[in-house]
Amino acid sequence: MTKVNPSIVHAPGEDLLWSLSQTIVDNIEVVRQEHQQQGLAPLYIDAAAPHSTDDPAVASLPSVRECKARDQILSAVSKLGAIVDHPVSRLAKLSSAYLDVSVLHFAADNGIADVIERCATRPDGALHATDIAKEINMDATRTTRLLRYLTAIHVFKETSEGYFANNRYSVHFKKGSPLEAVFGMGVYDVGPPALRINEFMKTPYAQQEDATGHLPLNLQFDYPDKSMFAWMNEPFNKARLERFNRTMVMKSHDSYAVVADVPWDEMIPKGGTLVDVGGGVGSLALSVQASRTDIKVVVQDQEMMIEQAKGFWSQKNPDAIKQGRAELVVHDFFQKNPTQAADLYTFRAIFHNWNDERCAAILKGTIESMAPHSRILVIDSILNPTTVDAGFSSSVNELRSDTQQDLTMMTLFPSLERTRSDWDRLFASVGLEIKRVFEVRSRKTTFEVGRI
Ligand SMILES: C[S@@+](CC[C@H](N)C(=O)[O-])C[C@H]1O[C@@H](n2cnc3c(N)ncnc32)[C@H](O)[C@@H]1O
Repeated sequence: MTKVNPSIVHAPGEDLLWSLSQTIVDNIEVVRQEHQQQGLAPLYIDAAAPHSTDDPAVASLPSVRECKARDQILSAVSKLGAIVDHPVSRLAKLSSAYLDVSVLHFAADNGIADVIERCATRPDGALHATDIAKEINMDATRTTRLLRYLTAIHVFKETSEGYFANNRYSVHFKKGSPLEAVFGMGVYDVGPPALRINEFMKTPYAQQEDATGHLPLNLQFDYPDKSMFAWMNEPFNKARLERFNRTMVMKSHDSYAVVADVPWDEMIPKGGTLVDVGGGVGSLALSVQASRTDIKVVVQDQEMMIEQAKGFWSQKNPDAIKQGRAELVVHDFFQKNPTQAADLYTFRAIFHNWNDERCAAILKGTIESMAPHSRILVIDSILNPTTVDAGFSSSVNELRSDTQQDLTMMTLFPSLERTRSDWDRLFASVGLEIKRVFEVRSRKTTFEVGRI
């Protein structure tokens, strides 16, 4: 099957349009076959319901073959667009990319999907923009213009002039949905400092490996000398911290793939212990324990976060706390881990927040507490800009999301997303190495690390 790889330089005379179109056709055939074999509906966009493979549950995850095929389609479509478009007009469109986040935030914050679902007056499920505006107490003409933009990026559909209905994307824009937090974070927390990256690059701090306290985040919020986590834990940022946690829960969409594709039985024996270091509110531990009720989970984090974790567990699984199967512990991961000899220590989205020196300190804190049988599982990205790192697939689509994440790190933390060689160097500095990389149907990479 033809693959789209960003590192392949195509000759000027090569009929790239044709070969990309073949990649798309080949891979669409794979998706169709997979859906036919499993008796699933073909993919669609217009119906106001999620496709069965959208459901973030283990049983609904597309097969590995389908995930790879979809990734190739997305890569080929993106490259095709870049070839077919006029370069200047494409760049002009990109210059307004900030509008996507702004308008999606409008949809999420006002729960437009709920309004349409509740008040639709047409058999096609549509509601006039004037009525939508009335329900959310906003100006009708401006609301219409915002809805048109959303329709142009395939969120909502305009079924006849001025009438808007839900589609497979917009149904997620319900009041209180995690998208409210995700786009809220884009608009209030990460977007504004990210727009100052160039300004940051001109400061002397950008020449230093550790620019803690002088990053785009510090520039934007006039909060010098301290880290993102210190800022988030300030009492005046309580609502921000709560929003951050809600986005982490949504991002733990990935948990289902991790739960499905990591051989947990092999990694934790019956009655064993999983420690989630810097586990946030504990969404990973919660998902793993849902299918492994025979294990104990320990979620460790900073005080403010553990306070929020208590609320999360009392809603999601109060029995686990009452029966001592789940423990929520305040722990500074730069210190020795208080849980000795656990079977598994997990680190999800931890190391990408810190530079090598601080990551080594975090690892040492856990290594000190490990028994010979203990293992470490890391869930983070392995940035793969070329095909050189054998054993990892690479595509334009993956590269786009990994580099986005990398620049988010540059905005908020003195850190980065790491390539395979970056990871190898970091682990070797504390006597560890990557033992195996799991094939997980998720954006992040999941790998086991052990003593060299
Ligand atoms: C990106 S979040 C990941 C949370 C969680 N692992 C997840 O995937 O949902 C990073 C976490 O590190 C925690 N953290 C930061 N500094 C810490 C420290 N010194 N000790 C313990 N946890 C810390 C933060 O509070 C936050 O929950």
